[in-house]
Formats: sequence, C-alpha cells, structure tokens
Amino acid sequence: MPQISGTIPTLETKRLSLQPLTLADAPAIQATFPQWQIVRFLASHVPWPYPPDGAETFLRNVALPGMARGDEWHWSLRPKADPGTLIGGISLMAREGDNRGFWIAPDWQGQGLMSEAAAAVTEFWFEDLGREVLHIPKAVDNLASRRISERSGMRVIRTETRNYVSGPHPAEIWELTAAEWRAHRQGS
Ligand SMILES: CC(C)(COP(=O)(O)OP(=O)(O)OC[C@H]1O[C@@H](n2cnc3c(N)ncnc32)[C@H](O)[C@@H]1OP(=O)(O)O)[C@@H](O)C(=O)NCCC(=O)NCCS
Repeated sequence: MPQISGTIPTLETKRLSLQPLTLADAPAIQATFPQWQIVRFLASHVPWPYPPDGAETFLRNVALPGMARGDEWHWSLRPKADPGTLIGGISLMAREGDNRGFWIAPDWQGQGLMSEAAAAVTEFWFEDLGREVLHIPKAVDNLASRRISERSGMRVIRTETRNYVSGPHPAEIWELTAAEWRAHRQGS
C-alpha cells in the first residue's frame, strides 16, 4: 500500500484550507472545541469536563505522535477567506474500524463546510494513502454526521452500542470502499 511519508499536505476545498495540526493550534482548539454541542457524540475517550490543557495534551500525546508515526493525519479547518481562524478539525486514522473523525464550531455548522472537508480527506484516504476501505462509527442520534455519510455514498454494515461523551448510545458502523468512492465522485 502506498504511504505518504514526511509532511502531511495542506488540502484545499472550495471554501476551506485544511492545514496539518501543529502545537501552535492548541490555544485555538482549546478556545473552540470544548462545547457540549461538539463533544456529546464524540467517543468517550475525549475528556469531559475538558481540562484547561486538553488541547495541548491531545496534540502532544495523540495527534502529533500519530502524524509522526505515519498512521494518523490531522488537519485544522480554516476559512480560505480568513485562514488565521481555526473553525474545526478533521482526522484520518489507520486504525481498525474507526478511520475518520471531524468537528466544526457551532457558528460554522449547517453551511456544507464539513461535507467539503470530508470529501477532501476521503479523497486523500483513497487516492493518496491508497486505502481500500473506510470505516466510521457514528451515534444513530448524530443526524448531521449521518447525513454526511449518506450523501457521500456510505453504507451501514453493523450496529452496536458504543460509549460517547454523553454516555452509551446505539451506533452504526459506516463503510465506503475505494470503488464506491470513485463511482460516487464520478456521479456527483
Ligand atoms: C457533524 C458536523 C461535523 C456537521 O458539520 P456541518 O458543517 O454542519 O455539516 P454540513 O453542513 O456539511 O452537512 C450537514 C448535513 O446534515 C444536515 N443536518 C444538520 N443538522 C441536522 C439535524 N439536526 N438533523 C438532521 N440533519 C441535520 C444538514 O442539513 C446537512 O445535510 P444536507 O447536506 O443534506 O443539507 C457538526 O454538526 C459537528 O461538528 N458536530 C459535532 C461533532 C460531531 O458530532 N462529529 C461527528 C462525530 S461522528
């Protein structure tokens, strides 16, 4: 399988610049991410209440080591019109059954921005990293996130109960193959 080694590229969408996370992003993540609306359907390993050093700890202990190992890819979302402002994050992980995660600040939701970001990193997953399949668990009640999966041609392959910051919830495991992604991209 082809692997990208070295630096992770900045990805561009119509309205967003996706920039690889750095330690310098800690204050902006700390100021934006810890909101109930954002975390309630995130996996329970996200600490809650969010500690004052939560963003820096995540960057130092999780994201940056994962990026250095070459099995995680993390980007900040920034409006192209205002690239100094971090409005969300999106990640890919080469781990079994849980390959993509994302969040965007409430003020920026509902404008199709995460659909753009998700398409860009999904393209990266299949076409740059050469992966054959993408799996993502989502709480059934996370309607906005499920909608993004539905609209990108994903399928539910399994349901199970998973632990989220807001407690255990029924979850669906969504799947997308490289062939399905290419067919979807062609048709959209
Ligand atoms: C999930 C999330 C990233 C979506 O971001 P977004 O930029 O608002 O998403 P988009 O605007 O690209 O698309 C959202 C879709 O869900 C729909 N949607 C939004 N809120 C909804 C709701 N409460 N009920 C049903 N559908 C909803 C939108 O209409 C849109 O569908 P459409 O394209 O068919 O119109 C954002 O809500 C978020 O950060 N949530 C908290 C973190 C999280 O749960 N992450 C995912 C974990 S699996």
